[in-house]
Amino acid sequence: MDFETLKAQCLECSRCALAQTRTNVVFGTGVPTARVMFIGEGPGQHEDEEGLPFVGRSGKLLDQYLEAIDLDRNKNIFIANIVKCRPPQNRDPLPEEWEACMPWLREQFRLIRPKIIVCLGRIAAQRMIRADFSVTKEHGVFIEKNGVLFMGTLHPAALLRNPRQKPVAFEDFVALREKILEVCPETYDGVERD
Ligand code: URA
Repeated sequence: MDFETLKAQCLECSRCALAQTRTNVVFGTGVPTARVMFIGEGPGQHEDEEGLPFVGRSGKLLDQYLEAIDLDRNKNIFIANIVKCRPPQNRDPLPEEWEACMPWLREQFRLIRPKIIVCLGRIAAQRMIRADFSVTKEHGVFIEKNGVLFMGTLHPAALLRNPRQKPVAFEDFVALREKILEVCPETYDGVERD
């Protein structure tokens, strides 16, 4: 299956109850050949309305961190979520919701074949890395699983709530830049730097 077919099928998904309350499926955005992927938790209100990930306030902050390390959602990364439809009132996704949704993300991994996966926040890190992963204690550490490097960092929404954590999160992005230069420097081919 190619990426566009996967997207078309995903946009029609009704595998869990979130299909009944969503406005749009948020499939993900970016470059399907990217070596670096970012995984969030699930769409919020703005994402649900626009059908795109991280377009609200936390998305703006994420874009600033990305820009600081020469990453750009339209040029050299792909951004997706653990669940592709908005949980009502932005509650945490239920196990049956992320289990139903996981095959879409797995297909995205299979087609994109990222070398580095950055998990934004606890929900994504615990689903992708380890059920007892602690973002507070283990953020910024690269963990290899089946030839892919995973890293968990603080969710941008958490940084908006607690701005004192911003420098710590920024260090994770600096470490990410170093890791990209080491394992997939082609990420930076053709991206203008200041
Ligand atoms: N928070 C997330 O985890 N994902 C989004 O797409 C937006 C906000």
